[in-house]
Amino acid sequence: MHIIKLDAIDSTNSFLRQLSSNKIVDDYTVIVAKSQTKGRGQMGTEWHSQPGKNLMASVFIDVSFLKIESSFYISMMMSLAISKVLKDLQIKNVKVKWPNDILADQKKISGILIENVIKNNQLQATIIGFGLNVNQVYFENLPLATSMHIVSGQTYHLDEVLKCIIVQLRLYTEILKTGNFQLIKEMYESELFRKNKPSTFEDVEGVLFSGFIKGVSNSGHLQVLIEDDILKEFDLKEVKLLY
Ligand code: BTN
Repeated sequence: MHIIKLDAIDSTNSFLRQLSSNKIVDDYTVIVAKSQTKGRGQMGTEWHSQPGKNLMASVFIDVSFLKIESSFYISMMMSLAISKVLKDLQIKNVKVKWPNDILADQKKISGILIENVIKNNQLQATIIGFGLNVNQVYFENLPLATSMHIVSGQTYHLDEVLKCIIVQLRLYTEILKTGNFQLIKEMYESELFRKNKPSTFEDVEGVLFSGFIKGVSNSGHLQVLIEDDILKEFDLKEVKLLY
């Protein structure tokens, strides 16, 4: 594993993307920063984190073994890697909120931003960025955020936690490389927040409806059992699960 540690950067994802476009980057090259000036989240949001308290990192992996239509498996394996480490470190009540938010005690503890490198319609590489709230104690104006310290009362070494996550990520990538997609999907689905529980969703028009999360499709659509026993699949932009 090749780790590049930075004090400050705009975004570890942007840095790694730039780096990989200029030269050949080894698998599991990791960029980790103490602070980001333009941390990016999913769907154009921003990611804020107290400098030096949390993990903000991006990992490069050659995923040319994956078909483009299977790219959601990258989200699944990263969600699994982070959840596994959190559980190993005695963090209670860890769940994955579709598609790839990690929750502890029903609050967000980690977020993942995946940016794939695609050429000629083929998946080549992926840059998996993640923010994990480790030792931060207060989250201003973010009532639904938490950290490992808040949940467990312990203080953690950021480097140790990072290493554990990369070890797990490697293991899950190896499972995928053997072609055992079903196992990864089953493991991911077993971690899903509110699976098989009556839940409220909001559609693009702001209309609320209820249903039961059953799982995900291979392309990463959320499968929800709605009224009249209909199993409907939703894309990320089509539905929001309300807490
Ligand atoms: C989200 O939940 O919206 C995803 C957040 C991802 C944040 C991480 S922090 C390290 C990496 N660099 C970024 O600019 N974003 C990701």
